[in-house]
Amino acid sequence: MNERRPRILWGLTGSVATIRADRLAEQLLQLGDVKAVVTHRARAFLPVLPESISIHDDQDEWSTWQQLGDPILHIELRRWADLFVIAPASADVLAKMSAGISDTLLLSVARAWDFTRPLLVAPAMNTLMWEHPTTAEHLNRLTSWGARVISPVSKKLACEDVGIGALAPPEEIAERVSDVLKATMRS
Ligand SMILES: Cc1cc2nc3c(=O)[nH]c(=O)nc-3n(C[C@H](O)[C@H](O)[C@H](O)COP(=O)(O)O)c2cc1C
Repeated sequence: MNERRPRILWGLTGSVATIRADRLAEQLLQLGDVKAVVTHRARAFLPVLPESISIHDDQDEWSTWQQLGDPILHIELRRWADLFVIAPASADVLAKMSAGISDTLLLSVARAWDFTRPLLVAPAMNTLMWEHPTTAEHLNRLTSWGARVISPVSKKLACEDVGIGALAPPEEIAERVSDVLKATMRS
């Protein structure tokens, strides 16, 4: 029986849905300890998050490493995490992950991911981006490696278009995270 709290690594990207990340933060903190990894573009939308969530970005990756023997942040975060959930996941991050690109902290964690642990992505993007054939290709590739997709929902988007592409509600994302944690930490 595992006594410690689950460790949730939370990726945030440059989707406008990051504006509402404080709501998801509350939900995730009920499930375990949380560390956040943000992209450069996510910073443009990031609200104030609870202090208990440490926020890591590309600069930290390079400021924490000075010489051989120093911790390498993307590896340390990957080792720490029981689960990685990227919510919202931008079209750009999904494309880069599926191509194995790893030129940011978030992408390096994803590239170094140990797929015996769960990785969930919750896409959020404009409807036409979502319906573009390349999105399904990227998601198919990611799921073939073991990633799980939390599907976006239909509503009036920030750009005023109406259609599928909005980030799934925080309660739904948290429920998926909770279910996956229960299933994997039991085993
Ligand atoms: C106001 C604004 C809102 C955006 N919203 C989204 C979005 O919801 N989903 C998305 O995939 N890209 C969105 N983008 C585009 C991304 O920010 C852009 O592709 C960026 O390079 C993503 O960087 P990242 O994937 O490294 O976070 C938006 C851009 C702007 C300026």
